This record gives sequence, structure tokens and C-alpha cells, in this order.
Amino acid sequence: MKLLPPRRAGRRFVLGATVLLWQLSATAQAVEPISLGLAIAGAAASALTGIISYPKLYCYFAHCCLHKPGARSGTVLQEGLDDRLFGQHLAKKVIVKSLTGFLNNPKPKKPLALSLHGWTGTGKNFASRIIVESLFEGGLNSKFVHQFVSTLHFPHQQNISQYKDQLQMWIRGNVSSCPRSVFIFDEMDKMHAGLIDSIKPFLDYYEELDGVSYRKAIFIFLSNAGAEKITEVALDFWRRGKRREELSLRDLDLTLSVFNNKNSGFWHSSLIDKHLIDYFVPFLPLEYKHVKMCIRVELESRGYEVDEDIVTQVADEMTYFPKEERIYSDKGCKTVCTKLDFYL
Ligand SMILES: *[C@@H]1O[C@H](CO)[C@@H](O)[C@H](O)[C@H]1NC(C)=O
Ligand SMILES: *[C@@H]1O[C@H](CO)[C@@H](O)[C@H](O)[C@H]1NC(C)=O
Repeated sequence: MKLLPPRRAGRRFVLGATVLLWQLSATAQAVEPISLGLAIAGAAASALTGIISYPKLYCYFAHCCLHKPGARSGTVLQEGLDDRLFGQHLAKKVIVKSLTGFLNNPKPKKPLALSLHGWTGTGKNFASRIIVESLFEGGLNSKFVHQFVSTLHFPHQQNISQYKDQLQMWIRGNVSSCPRSVFIFDEMDKMHAGLIDSIKPFLDYYEELDGVSYRKAIFIFLSNAGAEKITEVALDFWRRGKRREELSLRDLDLTLSVFNNKNSGFWHSSLIDKHLIDYFVPFLPLEYKHVKMCIRVELESRGYEVDEDIVTQVADEMTYFPKEERIYSDKGCKTVCTKLDFYL
């Protein structure tokens, strides 16, 4: 028996002798549990009578893409970031604010576009993982989350036009079946400018394109662009004896506008010119103590007790810059896992 996917609030479906009356909230946000009045005719009636508040059941039939309950409050996101992302007070703040703001806006004018900047190992990938885990069951493995790595998915210059078509088709296809789809583009600075331009229409303020609205989708871009500038500002701050946590977005805003003009594909593209990126999220270089935090969490996640000797040994193995002061880890927390293997 075929069951049509319900699109709208209040439609009725007849499933055999069973009448299911779906009541979606007026905003069709469907984030809150759906009160599902089950009016059942027939013998099974007495057994199943009652109200079932259970979005999963609804989704089982409807193939819908609800955010996790509670996603809108941002608490899960905040906790995830607090527990696992270290040394990034600015990134945390921007991510939580932008995301909760977006999720609580019943009528966003455009999809949310976040651009995450910083050196490798500072937590960009990690943060995007925590974001999608707070939104969808399964996080990165959810079928509503799509991750693209430039060098992996779009490696050949000569195939750009092919990639463009494919990418547009994928975005369109996925957003039409799930308006809340999330797209993550890694290695944005290595992505062909033409390819970036091809996603531009999806990020814009259109009500819809060919009958599809992209306004509830989320785009996350990751890149190293601007990392030197961010490091420069952080280092300058450190040298002036100020606390890292006092570093404000305003201190970095300047630098972000500077590297916007820099010579990399992404920044030349009209994403920037047309202000299609909603938030630039800076990731600061990580210090020795942050590396230690990463190691502790990694140990715990592998089921070990935290042994401070090992933590220190692994942290000492990382290389730090600048040469004289040795403040920031070269690779952030990136190689912590493999280095740790050696000690366990
Ligand atoms: C790139 O394009 C060429 C010619 O259009 C085609 O033969 C080749 O298979 C493509 N490569 C990839 C990786 O899609
Ligand atoms: C959705 O995106 C994936 C890539 O993540 C792609 O393989 C798939 O074909 C897309 N689905 C649709 C319906 O376009």
C-alpha cells in the first residue's frame, strides 16, 4: 500500500481501516513533538487508542526531516561545543547565536551560510560535526547532511562544468526532499571559483528557485583562508599580555574584511561580494593547554582513565610556533589521535 508523503499540516490519510489524523503545528516547524491523534476503526482500536506524541512515527511514514527535539533551544549544541571544542570562545559564541537565531526564525529570508576559518586542527570540522549532531539523529551520517571535500569530490579542473551540474542537481534534489538539508563544504580555499559561483543562487534571497525554497537549508564552509591574520591578531594580543578570552569579534572583524580581498578563489567569488555569507567564524590557533584538553577527551572517549603523564608526553611531542615563544600548536589537535596510539 502506498502512502503519499504528507506535505502540509492537517491532511488526512486513509490507511486501510485506520484513519490517521496528523496535526502539525501551525508554523509547520514540526520541531516540537507532533500530537498525533489516532482515530482507529476496527478491532485494533481499543489497543491503540490514545494520543501518541511521537515525531519518529510520523517520519516513518512521511520521510520528513525534522530537527531533533530541542535543537531550537541550542542547549545541546552549547553543551556539545563546551565539552569538546577547546580554546574557541568566539567560534562557540557565533555558532550558537547564529544557529539558534536561524532555527527560531519561522520565516528566514535566506538559508544560513556560515564560513569557518582557521588553521587545520583548530576544530572547524569538529564544530561542524557538533552542529549537525545537534540538528539530526546520526549527525554527519544523517541522510539530510551532505559533506563535500573539494580535493576529494571535485578534483579535476577539466571536469568543472560536469561538477557544477552535478552539485546543483544534488542541492536541488536534496533540498526538495528535505528543506532543512545541511551542506558542508570542506577545503573551500581549494575549490574552483566557478564551482563556488554555481552554489551562489542557492544562498541568495530568493523566495524560491524553480519551485524549490532553499531558505531553511544550512550551508557551512570550511577553509584556512584568513588563518594567518587570525593568528597574527591572537599573537599580538598575547604579546600585549592580554587574555585570549578577551579577544572580541571586533578585533577580528577587521582582519576578516582584509582577507576578503585576498587572492583566493573563494574570496574573489561573488559569495563575498554579494554578502551571501551570514557569519564568519574565526578559529584561533590552539595553545599547549588546549592540546592537553584534546588529549584528555580523546583518552576518555577511548575508555581510558586520564593519565597526566601521557597527556604531557603527547602534548610535548607536538610542535609549536612561533619559534621563540612556542605558543601555538602547528597542527592544533589534529595529530593527537595518532600520537596517542603510540602510548596506549
Ligand atoms: C572528466 O571528464 C572527462 C571528459 O568529459 C571524462 O572522460 C572523465 O571521465 C571525467 N572524469 C571524472 C573523474 O569524472
Ligand atoms: C543528495 O546528495 C547526495 C550527495 O551527498 C547525492 O548523492 C544524491 O544524489 C542527492 N540526492 C538527490 C535527490 O539529488
